[in-house]
Amino acid sequence: MSDIPTHYQALVLDHIGAEMRIERRPMPQAGPGSIIVRILESSVLSYQNDIYNGKRRYPLTTPIVGGCSAVGRVAAAGHDATILLPGQLVWVDCVVRGRDDPEAIYLWSIHDGYGPGSQKLSREVWHDGTFAEFAKVPMENCIPLNEVRLCKDLGYSARELIYLSHLLVPFGGLRTIDLKAGETVVVCPSTGGFSGAGVQVALAIGARVIAMGRNETELARLKSFVTKGTPWANIETVKVTGDQAADTASLKSFGVIDAVLDLSPPAAAHSTHLPSAVAALRRGGRISVMGSVGQPIVGWHFLSHDLQLKGKLMYEREDLMLFIKMLEAGLFAKGKDLVETKCFVLGDWKEAFNAAAEYTGVGRIVSLTP
Ligand SMILES: NC(=O)c1ccc[n+]([C@@H]2O[C@H](COP(=O)([O-])OP(=O)(O)OC[C@H]3O[C@@H](n4cnc5c(N)ncnc54)[C@H](OP(=O)(O)O)[C@@H]3O)[C@@H](O)[C@H]2O)c1
Repeated sequence: MSDIPTHYQALVLDHIGAEMRIERRPMPQAGPGSIIVRILESSVLSYQNDIYNGKRRYPLTTPIVGGCSAVGRVAAAGHDATILLPGQLVWVDCVVRGRDDPEAIYLWSIHDGYGPGSQKLSREVWHDGTFAEFAKVPMENCIPLNEVRLCKDLGYSARELIYLSHLLVPFGGLRTIDLKAGETVVVCPSTGGFSGAGVQVALAIGARVIAMGRNETELARLKSFVTKGTPWANIETVKVTGDQAADTASLKSFGVIDAVLDLSPPAAAHSTHLPSAVAALRRGGRISVMGSVGQPIVGWHFLSHDLQLKGKLMYEREDLMLFIKMLEAGLFAKGKDLVETKCFVLGDWKEAFNAAAEYTGVGRIVSLTP
């Protein structure tokens, strides 16, 4: 622990609706099963403001150091660490799971989860998050990153690697419906942070993408962005007109559709995009729902076409490990063709949260850089 300071700065939320403030805290010790990580970049959600101001009514116990997933370096490790040694570049994952309880799952510093196990862990054990210079992290949430391959060979820096925060989510959904190379998937909407990343992930898997959205300018940006980064990308776009049947016909004009990925925010729950896409699916088609659904999608077409519907919160650990292999294999665009990260220091959290709400869509993420 010799080069670790005795204290560190952290961004604290005293209660839902409060202004955040920077606090000087004593450095925690790494014990068995835990790692002290020096945070390099911590991702900010487009709705981080809405969670911390109470607009999104997520159950979250305060006071709390805010946070989300992060990229960092191991500063100190518990005695049971074998490869997570000081200096190792790591992905700090925000999906915390009970070690003895598969039902206990929550998103660190975002919500406490919805059961007694997750609430206990979130409130009493792994509470304070990554909007800080250092964080104490469950060992299993520190995923080693191959720095030589990712940073030297492929040219990624922590500022690009923080985009894993967006890329991993749609990967989790697409894994639940087993999207395969050569298949066609509708991503709807496709112009958000997570959904735009979903287009990049589906293309990296080798699928053809039909991207739906209501904003033609942003659809055009999406298409040109992914085509620039991966010129072999097989992507079509369909504008959501609000005429459900017409939009289904537009989708079907591109041929057989195997799968649908939905990442709708609450504001889009009543949009027609998901029912349109479901109605365009072939027999045996699969739907991954990761966002808000306010429209009926289980109707006659669903029954008569043997469709399969899967919900998904985030992703499994196995998905995370596989995804990092895909990234290390060089399946994604490099540098600014993958993402352009806007970075803010901890003290500028308000600007960061406001920027995150605006700076959305494919290849865009906001990060707090302690
Ligand atoms: N299941 C999970 O584990 C998981 C994980 C992360 C996030 N999520 C969910 O994913 C959602 C999307 O997050 P995000 O960061 O991608 O959001 P975002 O960047 O704010 O994007 C919002 C998207 O929704 C579209 N939209 C907004 N209002 C709409 C409306 N009334 N009708 C049609 N489309 C509308 C936007 O289209 P325009 O470009 O036209 O504005 C944009 O494509 C979140 O709200 C969250 O609930 C789920």
